[in-house]
Amino acid sequence: MTSLTFRPASAVAGTVAVPPDKSITHRAFLLGAISDRAVVVDNPLVSEDTEATLGAVRLMGAGVDGDIRSGRVVVTGRGVRGLTPPPVIDCMNAGTLMRLVSGIIVGQPPGEVTVLDGDDSLRSRPMARIADPLVAMGAAVVPAEGGTPPLAVRPGLPLHGMVHELPMASAQVKSCVLLAGLNATGETWVREPVPSRDHTERMLRAAGVDVLERDGMVGVAGPVQGLALPDVRVPGDFSSAAFAIVAGVLRGDPGVRVTGVNLNPGRTGLLAVLQRMGADVQVELGPDVAGEPAGDVLARRTSMLHATEVTADEVPSMVDEIPLIGLLGALAAGTTVVRGAGELRVKESDRIRTVVELLRAVGADAEELDDGFVVRGQMSIGGGEVHSHGDHRLAMLGALAGIASQSGVTVHGMEAAAVSYPGFTDDLVSLGAVTA
Ligand code: S3P
Repeated sequence: MTSLTFRPASAVAGTVAVPPDKSITHRAFLLGAISDRAVVVDNPLVSEDTEATLGAVRLMGAGVDGDIRSGRVVVTGRGVRGLTPPPVIDCMNAGTLMRLVSGIIVGQPPGEVTVLDGDDSLRSRPMARIADPLVAMGAAVVPAEGGTPPLAVRPGLPLHGMVHELPMASAQVKSCVLLAGLNATGETWVREPVPSRDHTERMLRAAGVDVLERDGMVGVAGPVQGLALPDVRVPGDFSSAAFAIVAGVLRGDPGVRVTGVNLNPGRTGLLAVLQRMGADVQVELGPDVAGEPAGDVLARRTSMLHATEVTADEVPSMVDEIPLIGLLGALAAGTTVVRGAGELRVKESDRIRTVVELLRAVGADAEELDDGFVVRGQMSIGGGEVHSHGDHRLAMLGALAGIASQSGVTVHGMEAAAVSYPGFTDDLVSLGAVTA
């Protein structure tokens, strides 16, 4: 386990090109594998999660040429019903892989059962949320007792379309069901309480699939003939950019510029929160990348942050950024409240518990709610020692707490950052942060 101390920084400044988007990289590989043509994926995210997905695609029989580390991979698909899923896929830490690939496997021709497994963190995450809708469509998908991985998925049973009313907003569940719908008979519809990120829908449309919309639902009509996914250039990941943006808000002098970031409105809710907290953040939109808005974000040090309240309908557009709102709240004037974020309890760690624990460990006044947290801002934090609990976003949160603290923060388990942002510490140091 790597422990690293992040010292207080009086100022950070510069430009960072954050890593490519994790969600879009997973989808480019998986949709490439069921496409009818060879798909060039430019600028894929090199991370443990996305390497697991590329490995899965290869094991299912798709062609994979090139080294992900070279910045360019060609995935040669086997068509929408042409994969041969292997007996076991190790999804490592990647919930997105496990959930999306299940929707693909159920639609493949009859064959052996595939067991999807992962690390201890993934083994604690709920899979009934995908097993139940897939079973309702006619599939055989069996999680372990308690509804968690390992997950046994049988290909080849006939699937029928239907309307799914999801109890939670989840792009992973929505995507799983829509991917199964490609090979189902009739229309498969999904309604979420609040719409989640729409990367899958955008990519399916780009691949020629008629993605339907009706009464606030999205759907597909199956079985589809085939997919022709155009080449994908992956833009920067807003969820990684969020850490650099918040570093800029806390200590950016003259400022931090984050370049080439995906600005899908289903992902950028944090920007609205920052603006209402009084932060100096500007967006410069550029041309679309991979059918998604993209551009630069500039963030400057903000002397006075105001507390805010985040409500349930806002959560899906900032679901991975909520930990940062906890830290911002601790450094703001007033009481910050996040509600309707119960989904955080089933992320890579129980992020309500781990965020509150981290904030308290650095001297903040924070407390858990069932579905969120309350932070009574004191406009400064002392410092201390924190644990990532193997959760990448917690590791990076600890680092930012360090640069904004009075005495520094030691993060135990810093290596977890590699799940989404392997160069995180280097980028923070290039902006002027000091580690020990
Ligand atoms: C993701 C969706 C989100 C997010 C995760 C990636 C995706 O999960 O937390 O990091 O790529 O679809 P849910 O949509 O399940 O909340």
